Amino acid sequence: MSINARAAIFAFVFAAVFVIAWHMSAISASALTPDGPCRVMLSFTGDPRYTVTVTWTDAENGGGAVRYAASKGFLNAREVRAVPVTGAAPAEISGRRFSAELTGLSPGTTYYYSVSGDPDGVYSFTTAEAESGSFSFMYLGDIQVTERAESDFSAWGRFVSGAYKKNPGLAFALQGGDIVESGINTEQWDAFLDNAAPVFSRLAFMPTNGNHESNFLSGKPELYLDVFSLPRNGPEGFEEEFYSFDYGDAHITVLNSWVFSGEQKLGDGDFAEIDAWVARDLSSSDATWKIAVTHVPLYAVHSDAAADKAKNHWAPLFEYYGVSLVFVGHQHVYSRLKPLTGGAEDFGDGVTYIMGNSGRKFYESADETLAERTIYNTSVYQIVRVDGDKLTVQTFDEEGRELDFVELSPRRAAEPGYIDVSEDAWYADAGYDIRKKAS
Ligand SMILES: [Fe+2]
Repeated sequence: MSINARAAIFAFVFAAVFVIAWHMSAISASALTPDGPCRVMLSFTGDPRYTVTVTWTDAENGGGAVRYAASKGFLNAREVRAVPVTGAAPAEISGRRFSAELTGLSPGTTYYYSVSGDPDGVYSFTTAEAESGSFSFMYLGDIQVTERAESDFSAWGRFVSGAYKKNPGLAFALQGGDIVESGINTEQWDAFLDNAAPVFSRLAFMPTNGNHESNFLSGKPELYLDVFSLPRNGPEGFEEEFYSFDYGDAHITVLNSWVFSGEQKLGDGDFAEIDAWVARDLSSSDATWKIAVTHVPLYAVHSDAAADKAKNHWAPLFEYYGVSLVFVGHQHVYSRLKPLTGGAEDFGDGVTYIMGNSGRKFYESADETLAERTIYNTSVYQIVRVDGDKLTVQTFDEEGRELDFVELSPRRAAEPGYIDVSEDAWYADAGYDIRKKAS
């Protein structure tokens, strides 16, 4: 056979494989997206005593509406029309995402709702109580399902459903970032939503941006912003990447630590704005419990440049403004550190850092120098119970076995003027109520 003939056959076979693969991919993508409303998720975009937001995918119907009432029979039902979820690229996700913010709800009340045209029918949720009382929530570390998206997310979905059934009455769930392996892969987002929706159509899901959500050229988590509806009270230009909300006597602040990676090409002025927002957010709350979530750990268990930057920027603010508990992820072990002040053990008034990992990607080692408890090769979830001046964190595995437990007392914000800061720290002269200790 001549070289030309071989080249022609190779080109034909290559073209045929390409066409078949493209066709299969198109079939696969369309099969993942049902025609009607699906992938229904709840979140908070306002005060959870009065406001709950429903977000869903709708490929065909332009969104429709959410109908809801405080009775199963939909007596005196109200309806809110859908609006497209506003993100960086609103039409990118397969089947557009829509949301409806349900406002004017009554505290401590169970509501029933349905999305028009959704064959899965009626869901329910319960609003936060009017007065601060005890409540529990779930923390989920990295999910980060890899290329076998559908089967791996199914396993995670079963893990979360089990956790939900074993812990009735949860108020919401926090997730610490790295939801998908590839943030630009719509099929992974669809598979995540398919497996998250059975639980999180009934329980608000409050995510954090991780590095795997951010792998766009812009450094922005474009599909993350398209998929979720979150509070828009973050710094200008970083809404929903940074946000906070209050539930009972807890103030939860969610931070996009991946800004320190350099992908967003931020300058000193941007970081000053972000840090000023963190300082304002924490100082404006008088909640007993201040809890922060960042994907990148401030105290890394494996060397990490972004973590060091996050620590330098935010650890002094957490210490100063009375943050008691910080949830992190990124390094694929469970790690609860000793309470820390300035990087040193401080059982009297230190900040507690807990790294979770709800997925199945595991690191075999970790620096345990600062750790009080480290668990390897185990998918875990945390149940946090807030009850007045007592907060407990339990860590469970898939079987519901309790692997770790810690009880915390609330930290208080420092008195103005009494914090050690380095001469060149941005906040040394920034007027955020942090001043160098008089010496
Ligand atoms: Fe990560």
